[in-house]
Amino acid sequence: MALRLGDVAPDFTVETTEGTVNFHTFLGNSWGVLFSHPKDYTPVCTTELGRVANLKPEFDKRGVKVLAVSVDGLESHKGWVKDINETQHCTVNYPIIADENKHVAELYDMIHPNALNNLTVRTVFIIGPDKTIKLMLTYPASTGRNFDEILRVIDSLQLTANHSVATPVDWKYGEDCVVVPAIKTEDIPAKFPKGFTEVKPYLRMTPQPNID
Ligand code: BEZ
Repeated sequence: MALRLGDVAPDFTVETTEGTVNFHTFLGNSWGVLFSHPKDYTPVCTTELGRVANLKPEFDKRGVKVLAVSVDGLESHKGWVKDINETQHCTVNYPIIADENKHVAELYDMIHPNALNNLTVRTVFIIGPDKTIKLMLTYPASTGRNFDEILRVIDSLQLTANHSVATPVDWKYGEDCVVVPAIKTEDIPAKFPKGFTEVKPYLRMTPQPNID
């Protein structure tokens, strides 16, 4: 059955460019991003993996472990990483799964044969510390993803998990947030000392709680 938000992210043990990895052990109590790309030595993928390497401090700051996957083998990955480092001015600093037998690709339904035969499309799974799936994205092979958007979603998810706020349309870090419907208006002042605005009884805005 297809995976859905809220499902436990399936566990696996695989070979990667950084040795054998058990996914749930690798995640520990952290958040996780598992992302697939179609093939080694392809142009869009090269730019994406370089971008993720250069963003690694941003993922670290948010307590997020990153893991890439494609259906190419370990020797191919290792050779390609040299090209990524050279051309994207980075050091690939996260594991890339060698999923030659398509174990992970099938577990996560990453092969969409009507779009791309036998290769993984561009998927992103964000996984919470409880190991459940918080976000799923699927992009076509020809469109590189926007990893700033992935970080933005992680910020939003972490705000919801830690501060009981949601984020409105086009929200950017530092902008006002939405008080989640589960909180009664009379309970807002105690929980949100920065104040709030009741636009409608169901739409209560408050400054982003975790910044000064
Ligand atoms: C790429 O990464 O550039 C790519 C991969 C497969 C199909 C099209 C583009």
